Amino acid sequence: MQTVQDAPSLRAAVRGWRSQGQTVALVPTMGNLHAGHYSLLKLARARADRVVASVFVNPTQFGPNEDFERYPRTLAQDQAGLAEHGCDLLFAPEVATMYPFGAEHSASIHVPGITDTLEGAHRPGHFDGVATVVCKLFNLVQPDLAVFGQKDFQQLKVIERMVRDLALPVKVMGAPTLRADDGLALSSRNQYLSDAERALAPLIRQTLQQMRELLGKGHARRIIEEAAQSKLERAGFVPDYAAIRRAEDLAEPAEGEREGLVALIAARLGTTRLIDNLPFD
Ligand code: PAF
Repeated sequence: MQTVQDAPSLRAAVRGWRSQGQTVALVPTMGNLHAGHYSLLKLARARADRVVASVFVNPTQFGPNEDFERYPRTLAQDQAGLAEHGCDLLFAPEVATMYPFGAEHSASIHVPGITDTLEGAHRPGHFDGVATVVCKLFNLVQPDLAVFGQKDFQQLKVIERMVRDLALPVKVMGAPTLRADDGLALSSRNQYLSDAERALAPLIRQTLQQMRELLGKGHARRIIEEAAQSKLERAGFVPDYAAIRRAEDLAEPAEGEREGLVALIAARLGTTRLIDNLPFD
């Protein structure tokens, strides 16, 4: 596996593959890779001749009081893991490569509407940072397809919408969430949890399942959302939201709407913010 940090080397490698008629998949990541990321790579491998992974802790998607500084950076370990999992090329740029005029003076992409709610409401500017960096990565790599985890459900929807709206020639694929045996969704942020917090964390998944069950039994959506939030609070979480939304656009479903829904939770446990979701179909 080749590792490159600059755009000309990346473009040269991709051009070489293209000249042989090979297809290219991109798996964008922020590094500190785990089995969840490697499952994205596996999907990419199955769908394209060549796989590029990017590792870049993107400053513009972190708010001022978020974990940009402490986000785990484990490039040597990631390199070894990617090579082992069949990645052809790792793109690990510096901030100056991704933001030649500085992160604060970058052109920015705003995907309206779908970014106003849930994560967007609690992390202002987050999705502008995500959309901008993903668009830059698409322009640099020019992949045929790109794979994102369904764990970041809203992120996936924002990227799908950006691609459609800006007519970007990339097929976006979502990959199922990988979970620990007790149901906790795999995330690089899980390592921030103390042992006691880690023991509590699977309650998020259990709450999502309960939300699905209660909706299936005909309970009103708002009552289910309130009950889920209270349950998390009683267990020691500080929830940002526990919501049932339309999977397509994350809008609030109409009364009695039951098809194409998803439950989503974001909650803090100590200093760690966890997110998870459960599509109902
Ligand atoms: O999901 C992530 O790891 C990041 O948000 C992404 C898509 C790599 C953009 O920085």
